[in-house]
Amino acid sequence: MSIASPSQPAGGQLRRSYLIIAAVITALGGLLFGFDTGVISGALLYIKKDFNLTPLMQGVIVSAVLGGAFFGALAGGFLTDRLGRRTSLFCTSLLFAAGALFTAFVNTPELLIVGRVIVGLAIGLSSFVVPLYISEISPPQYRGALVTANQLLITIGILVSYGVNYVFAYDGGWRWMFAIAAIPALLMFAGLFLLPESPRFLLARGDDAGARAAVARSTTSDTLTDSMMADLRRELQAETGEASWAALLRPGVRTALIIGVGLAIFQQVTGINTVIYYAPTIFQQAGLQSAGAAILATAGIGVVNVLFTVVSQFLLDRAGRRTLLLVGIAGMVLGLAALGLSFFQKSAGLPAALSLALYIAAFAIGLGPVFWLLISEIYPQEVRGRAMSVATMANWGSNLIVALTFPLLIQAAGPSPTFFIYAAVTVLAFVFVLRLVPETKGKTFDQIQADLK
Ligand code: GLC
Repeated sequence: MSIASPSQPAGGQLRRSYLIIAAVITALGGLLFGFDTGVISGALLYIKKDFNLTPLMQGVIVSAVLGGAFFGALAGGFLTDRLGRRTSLFCTSLLFAAGALFTAFVNTPELLIVGRVIVGLAIGLSSFVVPLYISEISPPQYRGALVTANQLLITIGILVSYGVNYVFAYDGGWRWMFAIAAIPALLMFAGLFLLPESPRFLLARGDDAGARAAVARSTTSDTLTDSMMADLRRELQAETGEASWAALLRPGVRTALIIGVGLAIFQQVTGINTVIYYAPTIFQQAGLQSAGAAILATAGIGVVNVLFTVVSQFLLDRAGRRTLLLVGIAGMVLGLAALGLSFFQKSAGLPAALSLALYIAAFAIGLGPVFWLLISEIYPQEVRGRAMSVATMANWGSNLIVALTFPLLIQAAGPSPTFFIYAAVTVLAFVFVLRLVPETKGKTFDQIQADLK
C-alpha cells in the first residue's frame, strides 16, 4: 500500500505501510508512558495495605517514577546522540519490561521504590526518544499527525491503566497491574527490528549508504529516495555547528531552547497531573461521596482526554500548532476559573465535573500534544537530541514539583484558591505563547530554523 506525497511532484510514492508500522511500534512507548504513570493511582490502594505504608512512603512511591523519568531524560540526550535513536529505543523497551517484572515481584517497599525508578527511567527515555525518532523518520506533511499519535497513545495508556486497575482490584492484584506492562514492552522490542535507524542521524554521522538504505525503506522508487536524500543533505548542510552543550546557547538555538523549556514548564505548572493523579480526590472534595462515583467520574475524564486528543490530531496540520495552543490555553483558564468558582460556591459535584472536563478537553487540544510536537520540530539537527532532553527534563522536574506540592497547597489554601492560582499561571502561559511561539505547521526543519533566527 502506498500514497502519493504532495511535496514530491513526480517519481514515486511513500509506503503507507512503513509509516503505519513506524507510528504503531514507536507509539507503544507512549502507551507505556501513559500506563505506567496512571497505574499507580489504583495499585497504591492495595500496596499500602500489604506493606503498611506511611503517607510519606506512599508519596515517595508515587513520585519515584517522576524522579526516574527526570534522569531518564537526562541520560537520553547522551544516549541518542551517541548510540543512535533506534538503539536507545531498544534500551527503552527492555527497561520498560524489566521495570514491569521487577515491580511485580518485589517484597519490600524499598525494592518497590527501586523498581519504580527503573520504570521512571524508561518513561523519561521514551518521552523524548519516541517523538525525536518519529519526527526524523517521517516526511514533513505527516510529521504532526505521527508525533501526536504518541500523545494519543499516552492518553490511551492512562485510560487503559484505569481499566486494568478495575480488573485487578483485589488483594495482591497490584502485582498483575504492574506485570501486564511487560507485554507491550516486549512487543515494542520485537517491532523495532522492522524499523531502520533515523536517516537524519546516519547522514549527520557521515554514513551516506546507511542513510540511503533507511530512506529507501519508506519509498517505492529510487527517484523519490534520491530526492528525499537531496532534501536531507540540504537541510543538514544548512545546520553546521558543534554538537556541544554550549551550542544550545547560540543565538538562534537559544530562542528555541527558551520556547521548549518554557512550554515544558507551563505544560506541568498549569496543573494537568493534579487531575491525572488526584482526580478521584478532587471529585470527592467536590461532593461525590462514594469512591465508586469518584472513580467513574475519573474514567470520564480519561475518556474526554482521549477524545479531544483525537480532535487535536485532525486540527494540528490544518489549524496549526500555535492557534491550537492559544485556543487550548484560553479554554484551560476558563475551566480552572470555573473550577475555583464551583468550589468557592460550595456547589454540588456537577459544575466541578463539567469545569474539569472543559479543562481536560482544552489541555488535550493544545498544550498536551503541541508541547511534545514542537520540541521535536524547533531545534537544528546537531543539538536536537540534547535540546529535547533539556526540555523533557524540565517537564519531568516541574511534574515532580507539582505532584509534591498540590496536596500541600490544597491543605494550606483550600481547593478554590488553589485552582485560582493555577488559572493565573495559565494566563502567563497564554502570554508566553502569544509572544514567543512561532507557527511550524507544514514547514521543513529548515524553514522553522529560519523563522527562529
Ligand atoms: C502530557 C503530559 C503528561 C500528562 C499527559 C496527560 O503527555 O506531558 O504529563 O500526564 O499529557 O494526558
